[in-house]
Parts: sequence; C-alpha cells; structure tokens
Amino acid sequence: MNGIGAPGGRAASAPLMGHESEPTLFEMSVPGRRAFQLRTTDVPPLVLAELIPVEHLAPAPLEVAEVSERDLVGHFTRLTHRQYSVDLGMYPLGSCTMKYNPKFCDAVAADEGLNSVHPGAPAVLTQGWLALLASLEEKLCAITGMARATLQPAAGAAGELTGLLLMRAYHEGRGDHRRRVLIPDSAHGTNPASVTLGGYEVTTVESNARGLVDLAALRAELDDDVAGIMLTNPNTLGLFEEEIIDIAGAVHEVGGLLYYDGANLNAILGAVRPGDMGFDIVHMNLHKTFATPHGGGGPGAGPVAVAERLGEYLPGPLAQRAPGGGYEWVRPEHSIGRVHGWHGNALVLARALAYIDVHGGDGLKRVAQHAVLNANWLRERLRDILPAAHDRLCMHECTLRATELRARYGVRGLDVAKALLEEGFHAPTVYFPLIVDEALMFEPTETESPQTLEALACALERIVERAKADPESLRRAPQTTPVSRVDEARAARHLVATADAPRPTSPTKANS
Ligand SMILES: Cc1ncc(COP(=O)(O)O)c(C=O)c1O
Repeated sequence: MNGIGAPGGRAASAPLMGHESEPTLFEMSVPGRRAFQLRTTDVPPLVLAELIPVEHLAPAPLEVAEVSERDLVGHFTRLTHRQYSVDLGMYPLGSCTMKYNPKFCDAVAADEGLNSVHPGAPAVLTQGWLALLASLEEKLCAITGMARATLQPAAGAAGELTGLLLMRAYHEGRGDHRRRVLIPDSAHGTNPASVTLGGYEVTTVESNARGLVDLAALRAELDDDVAGIMLTNPNTLGLFEEEIIDIAGAVHEVGGLLYYDGANLNAILGAVRPGDMGFDIVHMNLHKTFATPHGGGGPGAGPVAVAERLGEYLPGPLAQRAPGGGYEWVRPEHSIGRVHGWHGNALVLARALAYIDVHGGDGLKRVAQHAVLNANWLRERLRDILPAAHDRLCMHECTLRATELRARYGVRGLDVAKALLEEGFHAPTVYFPLIVDEALMFEPTETESPQTLEALACALERIVERAKADPESLRRAPQTTPVSRVDEARAARHLVATADAPRPTSPTKANS
C-alpha cells in the first residue's frame, strides 16, 4: 500500500489550542502505520486474480491515510472539542428545531435486535420491525389527523417531493391535468424547489402586513389549473395562519389540495392537527420534532401522511396488520412506487416511536406548549433591543430584526449572529424568511431552561452594547472561535470534497 503523507508524517500529539490548525489524516500518515489489522486471506494473489474478473479490479492501490489508532482517536477527539453541538449548549437556529435529543432514543436505536436485521429479510422473520413501523404510522396519523402514511422519505425535502408526486397522481388519476402549485412568499426554499422537481409551476402568493397569507391575493390566483397549495402553519415567521379554514375552503373549492410542510410541527403537537385544519398531505421532519440529532448531514426521516382519498397512491410497501394475525407488507393499489431503496431510515423511525411513546398522554402537547412559551418569553425579553418583525404572539419561534442596529451603528444581523458565537451560543437563523429585512430568527425549543434563555438574552444585550461602543469589533466577529469569519457562500459554490493527495498515475493490479 502506498504511503500518502510526507515521510515521517506530522505528529499531532500535543493538544491544539486557539487557532492552530489540525492536520488532515493524510498529513499525519506514515507508511506502514495501522489503526486496525485485517486478517489476510489464505488465497494466493494469483488465484485471486483468476477469481476476480480483471475489469472489477481497482486500477491502483486504495489511497488511504496510514495512521495508528492513537493518532486517529486523538485527531477526531481534538476536532470534536472544536465543535458546537446540541449536546453542548443552546442552538436557537430558527426553522430547524435543534432541540436536545434525549439519550434514551439513541439507546433504542442501538438495540441489536433492531439494527442487526437486514431490511430485505422476509416479513415472517421481521414481525417486530413491521409492528414497530405500523405502530409509528398509526401514531403519526393520529398526531396529524390523517388516514395513512409512508415512512420512506429520507428527509423533509424528500417528503415534499413525495407529497407533490402524490398530488400529481391524485389529479391525473381523475384525468385532471393541472399545472400550478401556490406557495406563500415566506416559504422555505425547499418548497419551490420540490414543486419544480415534481413537474409543476410555482405561483407565489404574497403575505399581508401581519405576516400571514393574504387571502384576497390567494383567491385572485385560484382557478382549475391549481393543483394545490404548500403551506406551513405556523408559517416560517413563526405566526399561526388565523384564516387557515378559509384558505382550505377556497383551495378545495377549485379542486386543489392542501399540502402541510410539517417542519413546524413542534409548535402544535397535541394541540391542533393539520387534518382538522383542512390539509390533505403532511410531511413531518422526524429529525426535528421527534428527536434525532441533525444538522450535520446525518440521517433524517420525512414521513408523509395523507387523507383517506390519497391513500391508494402512497409509496409501498406499507407495513400493516394481516387479516389472519401478525403483520404483512402491502402495496397500495395505485402506488407512485418507492421513494427509498428500503423502508426509510429505519433507526430514525425507531427513535421517533420511542420519543412519542415515552411522552405518552399529554406529553407531546407539553412539548409544544413549552416551545411556544420559550419563544414568546424571548421575544418579550428582547423587545427593546431587537424588536419582533411582527409585534404579536408568536408560536415556537420568533423573527426579530436588526434593522435599527444597522441604521444606527452599521451593525448587521449577520454581525450579531457571529458575535453570539463568541458568547458561547449557536447563532440564530439569519436573513430568513426573505421577506423580513435583517431577520434574526430564534427558535429556543422546549428543551432550554429559563436560566439558559436569560443567559442568551444577556449575551445579546452585551452585543448591542458593543454595537454602540465598538461596531467595528462586531464586523470582525467572531475572533475567539477556532475559525473566524468565513466567506458564507464560497464553500457551496466551489466545493472541494477531497484532500489534495498525490495520485498514482499508472494502473496496477490491486491483488497484493
Ligand atoms: C419550513 C421547512 N420546510 C422544509 C425543510 C426541509 O427539511 P429537510 O432539511 O429535512 O429536507 C426545512 C428545513 O429546515 C424547513 O425549515
């Protein structure tokens, strides 16, 4: 095997302090070092070469860093000490519901009886898993007021696309070829993206001065070309759509369907149900509302629940009780097909069921009540320094604005968010929703205590004082974090996903 790093590798045994950069594993690599020794096969290389067709052989030895277990563990431990995470402290990232995820859910997902089962194993051998999935489907339907649900979609956006394909299948199944889907101007960016992917055209509906869907503007767009509307309630400003029953009536009147973006479900759990508001299709972000750590690109789950009339189009198979006892897989009659290779991100589903079951009774309602209480407490506490975009009761998150700070001291919402990192908190969401100038969206979630909320408010007060005394220091913040201010867009536009390691040029058989 080729050694990749410089001979001798870079030692990384001393703890990293301040801004010193952590070497990559390739830089630490020393030829011949191993963290793990695989037993070699007894099959001689020549025989192997005969067994494996030549086109399946790697053209060159695998380029991997060669490090000892000691250096490997040190490397990742040092990196974790430089991270901010939900387990470390408050993460008030609006719209993302970064709540603390109780560890018992991890214990459930770690259960060997669950995670050692192959998803392709026959139903007769996996009755426990089928029972778990059927039970979760039933509970999600009860929470949302829907009839049936698919657990397959792997995230919220995947749920949105699934929902739109269901909408399309429903209309086309009736010979009705509609082309437009309405979306309020406050919507999350994934909504219009999903509409386009689903083969529809987006029509934007303006919000009114109160931050809600403008019913007159909505009515003006409604005709028999409208397949449906995508909404989240509370909306992305954290405000409850008070005219939701009228909105639902108007959309249904022209034959359209109502799609509920369930990213904000944490606000209404156990209190009101999308089905009762008139929605026909609902996706849920289990990784937000039902306790799965997320945010670093980890697995999520975006089940989609539907009203009775859409059940026949759901992706299959679905786990359900068999007439003769036990559980079986069934495929809905006019299924749109699979939206996941297997049954979804199964261990996220197991976590969600554990979370729902342990909260039992009124527990989920208390989650929503505390989430809403915390957001309103924060909004009130900050009213003199960062006023709310809409001065009224909010739901689980509050959208504040830094317009005055910018006008008076040239300090932007982004600067406030960066300075918050120096104060030991994660930043709120900034510049979203797009319709709010200098938006700072805080979602404290139900898992934070009054003391933590007060500490966050004090940190923001200190930042505002700094804005008055030394605005320039805020424009350079953060200075005390491992990484200082970065170009916000460059990484996404110029993605470099690999270490710059030398590559062998001449192909060799990888049979040694
Ligand atoms: C309102 C809203 N809708 C949809 C999504 C998409 O969810 P996911 O990130 O799981 O794809 C998000 C994610 O933050 C959201 O906040």
